[in-house]
Amino acid sequence: MQQTAIWLNSIGLGAYAQRFAENDIDFSVLRYLTDQDLEKLGVSLGHRRKILAAIAELGGAAFAMPQAVAEPAQQGEAERRHLTVMICDLVGSTALSARLDPEDMRAVIDAYHAACARITLTYDGFLAEFRGDGILAYFGYPIAHEDDAERTVRAGLDIIAAVGRLETRAAEPLAVRIGIATGVVVIGDLSREGALREHAVVGETPNLAARLQALGEPGTIVVAASTRRLIGDLFRLRDLGRHEVRGIAEPIAAWAVEGVSASESRFEAVRAAGLTDFIGREDEIDFLLERQRLAWKGEGQIVLISGEPGIGKSRLAAALAERIVGEPHTRLRYQCSPYHSNSALRPFIAQLERAAAFKADDTSEQRLDKLEALLAIGASRVEAVAPLFAALLSIPSGERYPPLALSPTQQRRRTLAALLDQFEGLARRQPILLSFEDVHWADATSLELLDLTVERVRQLPVLALFTFRPEFEPPWVGLPNVGTLTLGRLDRNDVESMVARVTGGRALPAE
Ligand SMILES: Nc1ncnc2c1ncn2[C@@H]1O[C@H](COP(=O)(O)OP(=O)(O)OP(=O)(O)O)[C@@H](O)[C@H]1O
Ligand SMILES: [Mg+2]
Repeated sequence: MQQTAIWLNSIGLGAYAQRFAENDIDFSVLRYLTDQDLEKLGVSLGHRRKILAAIAELGGAAFAMPQAVAEPAQQGEAERRHLTVMICDLVGSTALSARLDPEDMRAVIDAYHAACARITLTYDGFLAEFRGDGILAYFGYPIAHEDDAERTVRAGLDIIAAVGRLETRAAEPLAVRIGIATGVVVIGDLSREGALREHAVVGETPNLAARLQALGEPGTIVVAASTRRLIGDLFRLRDLGRHEVRGIAEPIAAWAVEGVSASESRFEAVRAAGLTDFIGREDEIDFLLERQRLAWKGEGQIVLISGEPGIGKSRLAAALAERIVGEPHTRLRYQCSPYHSNSALRPFIAQLERAAAFKADDTSEQRLDKLEALLAIGASRVEAVAPLFAALLSIPSGERYPPLALSPTQQRRRTLAALLDQFEGLARRQPILLSFEDVHWADATSLELLDLTVERVRQLPVLALFTFRPEFEPPWVGLPNVGTLTLGRLDRNDVESMVARVTGGRALPAE
């Protein structure tokens, strides 16, 4: 219930905390609250609007992908959990408090705490402690997600940005330092309400996170080796080498996070390192090769690949791509993300940015040049569509193009049409293998574009693979040229040979 109270505080409506608690509204049910519910609780109209807007802002990420909900431990019982721990500290707060009068200082700290609380909750983390000018948050508790380490780093990046934007009476912008580490910790008494300190965690991890935090520059995140392994190449990292720190025997390795990386797919960023040989799935590969032959003849094909997390959808798509590397074709890859389910066309935007090879420090002029070069490959009249693409990619086009002068609806329709034409232009040059990964996280506009793509593909040499988890119900089943592959577990033989390869042929007991 405290999470709800902290969240209410962060939007300035802490006064309702008790009423929410009395009605058993914990954080997990927030998103199901309706206007009528709130009215019944006696929340005023203005506050109802504010609460509903804040709930909507929590977005999908706060609730996506719960893997296991912790069983509350018995009163007084401790629990071992695998957590990612974040420690965030306000830089120069002592100096700041010497300069500000106490009330202004209080306001600074409150605004900073509220920002940390709001962002931590957005990523479904748990704010365990406010420590003076620092905060301690856990990710992976009480709800564990497959990507807790990634969530933690994303939350850290958001906190740095939000704190830098806070308007306060301090002369200069505020900055924080953040340390992140992952490991097994023992969490104290989980059942008592009311006192955050009851959630005290014990173990090396929080200590490690605190030490890493102290190593960083203001405005940066430093992560431990344990976290670094989990986040793979999802972020741009700078190796900070090894450091001797107090309280830890061995020198510790540390990395600074420089930003989100533009990797092509989640699969490659997290799992490509140390791939074992591809095993089994021969029928599926045959099915895909069969579709590919039809597609290359100009009868475009869509294959819907569905299955549980980790069952091998991405790996299957990668295996097909390997099988056909020798044949000339264009490979287009799109990746959806649980963090951007509300951001229109995000997978398409990211693909264009990668294909155009934008660099972080490119000027708008350079980006427009690169964009036009990219569009020239597929479009016959670049100048007609470049302004639409520039708007889609949020590149200020200055004097280069006349203003668009379209209503939002017109602009949206023309953007979708331009994306489709661009795609068709590419397909007319050579066949396309397209993969669109994790459709279950796609935004509504991307889904609409996929609808149009499914139609357009039929007369083009295109094989399109859409991967998704079982919770997504694809609207394309039964349409012409649409096939389905539902991946189940590998059979016993395949599993045995996979195990044998991982263990290098050493005999293992049958169980
Ligand atoms: N047939 C296979 N042979 C060898 N390794 C495999 C095979 N299928 C899957 N794997 C391995 O299992 C892991 C999970 O597979 P993959 O990432 O493809 O799952 P997924 O279905 O795409 O999961 P998600 O829903 O999380 O995207 C990867 O490390 C992958 O290399
Ligand atoms: Mg996958």
